[in-house]
This record gives sequence, C-alpha cells and structure tokens, in this order.
Amino acid sequence: MAKLKRHRRDHGGWSGRGAIWLTVLVLALLATGVVMHGHEPMVDADDLGAGWWHRVATVVHGVFAWVFCVVAGRWIWPHIVLVWPRRNGNWIWELGIATALVGGVAALTGLGLLYGAADWREILTAVHWWGGIAWPVACLVHAWKWIIEKMGQRR
Ligand code: HEM
Ligand code: HEM
Repeated sequence: MAKLKRHRRDHGGWSGRGAIWLTVLVLALLATGVVMHGHEPMVDADDLGAGWWHRVATVVHGVFAWVFCVVAGRWIWPHIVLVWPRRNGNWIWELGIATALVGGVAALTGLGLLYGAADWREILTAVHWWGGIAWPVACLVHAWKWIIEKMGQRR
C-alpha cells in the first residue's frame, strides 16, 4: 500500500487508470471534434451521409464532455493540488499551467457553444477548435518525460 502511494506521489498523483482515462478522453474528444469539423451538420432525417457522421460525432463528443468533468474532478484537480508546490525550474510545471489554461479555454468555449448566444457562435467555434487542437498537443508536451519513460520500459 505504502509502495502504491509512493508510486502515485512520484507520478504527480496519476495512477495507471487515471493516465488511461486521460488518454481515452483526449483521443475521443479530438477524433470526434475532427469529424464534426470535417462534415456539414445534418439537414434532414434522411441524410445518412456526411450529416449522419456529424450527428454521431456530436453525440459522442457531448458524452465525453461529461467524462471530461469526471476526469477533471477525479484526477486533474488532485494532480494540480499535489504538484503545485513542486516548481523546480525544469519547465514541466510551467507546461502544466499551459495545459490547464488551454484545456480550460477548450472546456469553457465548449460550454459557450452549448448555452451561449447565437451571435457568439462564430468566434466560439473558432476558439474552441484551435483550443481543442492545442490541448492534446499541450498534454503530450507536458507529459513527455513520463511518455519517454514508459516507452523505454517497453523496450
Ligand atoms: C476540453 C475538452 C472539451 C470539451 C469539454 C468540449 C465540449 C464541447 C461541447 C459541449 C460542444 C458543443 C456540442 C454541441 O453543439 O452540441 C463542442 C463542440 C465542438 N468541439 Fe469540443 N470539447 C472539448 C474538446 C474538443 C477537442 C479536443 C476538439 C478537437 C479539436 C473539439 C472540437 C469541437 C468541434 C469541431 C465542435 C463543433 C463546433 C460547432 O458546432 O460549431 N472539442 N465541444
Ligand atoms: C489539464 C491539466 C493537466 C494535465 C492533463 C496534466 C497531466 C500530467 C501528466 C499525464 C503528467 C505525467 C505524470 C507522471 O509522471 O506519471 C504530469 C506531470 C506533472 N505535472 Fe501535470 N497536468 C496538468 C496540469 C498541471 C498543472 C496546472 C501543473 C502545475 C501547477 C502541473 C505540474 C506537473 C508536474 C510538476 C509534473 C511532474 C510530476 C512529478 O513531480 O513527477 N500539471 N501532468
């Protein structure tokens, strides 16, 4: 138990399960976001082409927006609380702040797309798209040390 707790502290609070959920979340939001972006919305119920893909991706994206809230509460927030005092000049901490900011922009503009005024849509769509592209990249760059360590262990 003590070994397990130490392992979690050493990895900024990320358990294996937490890392898997974060990876699934980021990939699912990215893949469905790219499909929505690349296909026109459904115009009528008989549209089983591009519009159908847009609809399916929107539903799955919406489900993962809930999963985002679960992952944020269960792993991201405890991670931030744990690593907040660990600023040591090796850039991982600053990259963590960037990851949290970019993810926050993507999440808030997503909320704006759901509930915001119609005339905000154009700007919200653009900011959400670029924030959504930047967030997975930020996660990758922020967790690079851990990813390289994992790849090394597999060899
Ligand atoms: C940070 C996590 C994210 C959350 C919480 C989130 C949430 C949302 C929500 C709630 C919507 C509105 C869906 C609707 O209109 O019914 C949306 C739309 C969209 N999201 Fe995300 N999203 C996230 C990340 C991403 C990512 C990584 C991408 C990919 C680059 C992305 C691309 C899109 C696109 C293209 C739309 C459609 C925009 C439009 O209809 O104008 N999102 N997102
Ligand atoms: C969306 C927000 C964030 C995500 C998804 C995230 C994700 C991660 C991941 C996957 C790791 C690798 C963990 C491991 O070594 O096993 C990590 C490490 C780290 N993160 Fe974050 N992080 C976020 C926000 C932050 C913030 C805001 C900070 C700083 C205040 C931060 C500071 C750190 C530090 C210092 C480490 C190295 C942990 C260690 O001491 O070993 N992160 N993060």
